[in-house]
Amino acid sequence: MPNAAFLGIGHYLPEKVVSNDDLAQLMDTSDEWIQQRTGIKTRHYVDFENNPMGASDLATLAAKNALDNAQITTDEIDLIIYATLSPDRFFPGDAVFVQSKLGIPAGVPALDIRNQCSGFIYGLNIANAFIQSGQYQKILLIGSEVHSTGLDFSNKGRDVAVIFGDGAAAAVLGPSDDPERGVVHVNMHADGRHADELHCPYPSSAEMPRATPQAIEEGRHFPLMNGKNVFKHAVSKMPESVKEALNATGLTSEDIKLLIPHQANLRIAEMVQRRLKLRDDQVFNNIQKYGNTTAASIPLALSEAVQEGRLEKGDLLCLTAFGAGFTWGAALIRW
Ligand SMILES: CC(C)(COP(=O)(O)OP(=O)(O)OC[C@H]1O[C@@H](n2cnc3c(N)ncnc32)[C@H](O)[C@@H]1OP(=O)(O)O)[C@@H](O)C(=O)NCCC(=O)NCCS
Repeated sequence: MPNAAFLGIGHYLPEKVVSNDDLAQLMDTSDEWIQQRTGIKTRHYVDFENNPMGASDLATLAAKNALDNAQITTDEIDLIIYATLSPDRFFPGDAVFVQSKLGIPAGVPALDIRNQCSGFIYGLNIANAFIQSGQYQKILLIGSEVHSTGLDFSNKGRDVAVIFGDGAAAAVLGPSDDPERGVVHVNMHADGRHADELHCPYPSSAEMPRATPQAIEEGRHFPLMNGKNVFKHAVSKMPESVKEALNATGLTSEDIKLLIPHQANLRIAEMVQRRLKLRDDQVFNNIQKYGNTTAASIPLALSEAVQEGRLEKGDLLCLTAFGAGFTWGAALIRW
């Protein structure tokens, strides 16, 4: 059974850079508060007034970069898996828009998954299973988000608004001809009892009509988060899932060349690092520049780590995520 290997990776960020001081013009916050609590210095936003873009536009540009990096043409892709919590439309999912914008041939299946910050880990597990089964050969796995059009920039929403940023990243996965290379293990988990701890309640199919001016007036279309509870679970579930992956494969923390934790908050990543007893050189973070880009965060960090030459053939890469749902998981990949 061939495991899925990374054949290429790429990312795309909208050009507009928003600093903490920029946000402090809109709400009661400060560079000091944001950096101290989250480590974030800047994030990228779509320039909505001059160049409006949805998550599928960012995804398309990231996918192009990944295909170029893999030296693969669009007609070789036989499955698209797309993770986002900020799709262009209520339906259909974004994957079909990427298919059409990229010119991936009609008939190729396009699968959307809704696992928020764990989307890339869930998607990797699905892609690996399809590649192992032989059903699909070359899979485009995308994480993309446009948060900036859906944040509450008033004081009421400041806890959430300062954290998130826009961005996209994609990987091309295919069967490895080298048994030493590719996905070694993936685990994924969920606990729906915490679904209300981080969610966007509106619009909802449980309401009729699904959208009203009054609900928008009340700001019910903005995300809500119990930050303390999210923090508490994130710092326990990510190390737990990495340990599960290491135990399942007989590997140890020392074997990890690079850990890329979901870029939720630098303090969370630092605590995960400490709990796994990893050195600084074993962990890659870039949340300082981009904020939390949810489904894009892990592939975006991986894409930059690869560009910086942080991984060589045979290195053990570890990914771990935690997010809304709650959902979480970890992956081990032989690069
Ligand atoms: C959001 C988070 C940074 C808030 O930090 P915290 O230490 O828990 O802060 P609290 O929510 O207790 O708020 C402390 C105070 O800061 C205020 N505050 C909240 N957001 C603020 C902001 N952007 N700027 C300034 N003050 C802010 C609160 O109103 C509160 O004020 P009060 O004491 O007068 O009531 C933190 O909880 C966190 O990072 N949680 C995880 C979030 C996350 O990773 N989400 C994505 C998961 S994938």
